[in-house]
Amino acid sequence: MQRLLYISTARTTVTQDMIDDILRVSRRNNAAAGITGLLVVGGKRFLQVLEGTDLAIAQTFDRIQRDPRHFAMVNLARQSITERSFGDWAMGYHTGGTTTSDDPSTMVAALIAPIEDATLRGYFSGFADLHMATKPAKAA
Ligand SMILES: Cc1cc2nc3c(=O)[nH]c(=O)nc-3n(C[C@H](O)[C@H](O)[C@H](O)COP(=O)(O)O)c2cc1C
Repeated sequence: MQRLLYISTARTTVTQDMIDDILRVSRRNNAAAGITGLLVVGGKRFLQVLEGTDLAIAQTFDRIQRDPRHFAMVNLARQSITERSFGDWAMGYHTGGTTTSDDPSTMVAALIAPIEDATLRGYFSGFADLHMATKPAKAA
């Protein structure tokens, strides 16, 4: 199994109708494909984690990447997993916070800030740290 985490930016203002549509289609398709995960939406930014078999992830992510409703995808993590972290959700949803920063780590931090569940928040801040750690060190 694989877990994938990315952030992306909506092309237009994100309406509740758009979110409802994404969640409805995602939950239907993901339940059928054995995909679980979480979508966090803050302002025009999407943060999504997907987990499932390598094939299901590849097929689903291919569709998501081609979706004209968003662009500027940044992959934050792709890992082999033996256990799911989001096994209860065909696609969970959280309203996220916003920031004007374009820095992926700052974006992740802002998106997850309103999440009340500290364990869940900690899970994502781990990814933000991981991403920062993989960036080349800035010159002093
Ligand atoms: C931010 C975002 C997240 C999405 N997440 C999923 C998802 O988890 N699963 C999924 O099947 N489609 C997801 N979609 C929708 C796909 O891009 C695509 O529209 C959909 O899979 C097409 O399904 P259909 O062929 O059954 O209509 C997402 C779209 C966006 C913009």
